[in-house]
Amino acid sequence: MEVHLPEDHALRTLAADVRRGLTATPKTLPPKWFYDAHGSELFEQITRLPEYYPTRAEREILDARAAEIARITGAHTLVELGSGSSEKTRLLLDALRDNATLRQIVTLDVSETALRDATSALHAEYPTAAVHGVVGDFTEHLGLLPGEPLRLVAFLGGTLGNLLPDERAKFLRSIRDVLDPGEWLLLGTDLVKDPDTLVRAYDDAAGVTAEFNRNVLRVLNRELSADFDVDAFAHVALWDPVNEWIEMRLRATRPMRVQIPALGLQIAFAQDEELHTEISAKFRPATIAEELTAAGFTPTHHYTDSATRFALTLARST
Ligand code: AVJ
Repeated sequence: MEVHLPEDHALRTLAADVRRGLTATPKTLPPKWFYDAHGSELFEQITRLPEYYPTRAEREILDARAAEIARITGAHTLVELGSGSSEKTRLLLDALRDNATLRQIVTLDVSETALRDATSALHAEYPTAAVHGVVGDFTEHLGLLPGEPLRLVAFLGGTLGNLLPDERAKFLRSIRDVLDPGEWLLLGTDLVKDPDTLVRAYDDAAGVTAEFNRNVLRVLNRELSADFDVDAFAHVALWDPVNEWIEMRLRATRPMRVQIPALGLQIAFAQDEELHTEISAKFRPATIAEELTAAGFTPTHHYTDSATRFALTLARST
């Protein structure tokens, strides 16, 4: 595995994100800090919850379409951005191998533990392909990615929806910038649907998503010696019908003062004050195509699952 970031990069970025986010109004934290080893495990549990349909819906599409995608692209390198869910990537890898074009696998993830497990498994399962694991943030480190043409970049799971619209545009453009004309992007996006289904997917009955949400506070306690009383925060998931995104928040159930000695910060929470921890935007097919086109891609194929819950869009770099 290749770690392309300095040893202290993650900690420095976390410190900067926390300082900026917790001194802002409203208080916010970027969702990438959910994913320490425990958070990655909780996310894996989320993907198996009855309410959380996106993973199953996306897998259904890949089951049906991976061979077609391999044939259309003829890719030699699969670049996976965010490998936490490498299981679905295997459907693409199997198809590229069966298509006899697969030579190289590049996988980028912010979680070193998730990446380590993923790359060693990939080595074993695709012995004829070169495997490169890169620890990094897909919004920052695309320029570091190895990989020879002809590349297919897979950005699955609906993670695009965790970015704000302007971040999304910049991110899609940055993928376009590392690709040569004729190379490919496969983009997974969750689709707009009835709010009940959406809210349930982010507020499951077993409370796994609530634990996942609160885990970001545990990460701050461990990494920055903060003293968040994790159980004093309630999980909130709501549908914003104007922006068409789910928002996850953590609501302080009592007034609190939190010390973050590593940052020399003391943060006050009012009773019921909400810390914004994630947006998960849901898309309409026309918007996906527009955003890809604006970034310099030509969308060529749009696939959905049988219940039209989730979309995979194949787009060629122009
Ligand atoms: C799969 C990372 C995009 O927004 O659905 C799951 C993460 N957050 N439950 C999503 C998540 C709450 C997620 N991504």
